[in-house]
Amino acid sequence: MNLSGVDFAQLAQEALKRCQVLSCFSEEPGRLTRTFLSPPMREVHRTLAGWMEELGMAVRVDALGNLIGHYPGHSPNAPLFLLGSHVDTVRDAGAYDGALGVTLALALIGGLGGKRLPFALEVIAFSEEEGVRFGVPFLGSKAVTGQFEPDLLRLKDAQGQTVAEAIRAFGLEPAHIPQAAYNPAQVKGFLEFHIEQGPVLEALGYPLGLVEGIVGQSRLEVAFRGQAGHAGTTPMHLRKDALAGAAEWMVLVEREARDEPGLVATVGLITALPGAANVIPGEVRMSLDVRHPYDEVRSLAVANLVTRAQQVAQRRGLELGYRTLHEQPAVPCDPKLSEMLALSVQAQGYPVHRMVSGAGHDAMIMSALCPSALLFLRSPGGLSHHPEESVWPQDAEAALRVGLDFLHRLAAEA
Ligand code: HGY
Ligand code: MN
Ligand code: MN
Repeated sequence: MNLSGVDFAQLAQEALKRCQVLSCFSEEPGRLTRTFLSPPMREVHRTLAGWMEELGMAVRVDALGNLIGHYPGHSPNAPLFLLGSHVDTVRDAGAYDGALGVTLALALIGGLGGKRLPFALEVIAFSEEEGVRFGVPFLGSKAVTGQFEPDLLRLKDAQGQTVAEAIRAFGLEPAHIPQAAYNPAQVKGFLEFHIEQGPVLEALGYPLGLVEGIVGQSRLEVAFRGQAGHAGTTPMHLRKDALAGAAEWMVLVEREARDEPGLVATVGLITALPGAANVIPGEVRMSLDVRHPYDEVRSLAVANLVTRAQQVAQRRGLELGYRTLHEQPAVPCDPKLSEMLALSVQAQGYPVHRMVSGAGHDAMIMSALCPSALLFLRSPGGLSHHPEESVWPQDAEAALRVGLDFLHRLAAEA
């Protein structure tokens, strides 16, 4: 592939700088938190739309708040090839998780220098992947792939606002969500660039990783209910302390995950009510995130953890409540598209390292619509979901060289 004349270092620099620009748009002072359709998402849309228009792209926003830029192909009815990632973040996030997949996609279009391909390109900035505001992830890519179940509109955030209300508050219309779905017959495939968010590539000294599959994940809400009471007057043997019960169970969660190779289980969110230092917690609500490459192992682990919770509750005279918020089976990336990506990695002189993703990505939802592939960039320090998340410019440059090689390879095959 003759990629001479493309200033990859400059494109990479710009893509990383743009992630920094987007990271300034936050709903919390002093740290990056940008959840589904929160006010700073308007500034993200305005900024991305400006960059897309500079590239000659037509910009639209679908009913779920996904921002989409269209770069035309040879002919008006050319098929589509999709690129992109999510622009929502976790709390106290880094600048690159999600956003990098969008800014690198725009850099690739810049690298085309106005050249048209036998397919049109669309860059999707998904409005919601992390599941922070409403507890259920992938709302954006679910809409794009026609998998957005209407019940999701009734989910409520911590303030009691529903998904439907959040969509309307952003100036969009939930009734139009079905129109957000792409026609699979029109879509050739999807490629997502994303930081690895783990230590593997750094340990190997490799800039890029070719993802062969994405582990499955279960997200539950678990609650223990006991009896609130006075911290000073209630003897220990007469308590029904919901937080003490939750603590005992959380240690069992960690032990179950440590004992099962490849299993990870996390309680990331805990709320103790009523939440005063001199009141015995009467109720505790927790999140539970369980993941494993094999779905049957994950499902068994979830069942075991629920059984453990029932045993703790019974022993302590507590009530247990739990509900599954999200179940996502493990997803293989498309072998053909991944092999083409591997040829581009090789052709550009980089080592091909095949790996599994422990993190969920929009590519796993997009695989229901079209062949999907995922290319990882090294995460220095293995750090992510953390403000010190970073990306090396030379790795961004490597991703762009591979990405442009890949697009030309796809065009030659068309
Ligand atoms: O949680 C994840 O795996 C991703 O960061 N959404
Ligand atoms: Mn993330
Ligand atoms: Mn992500």
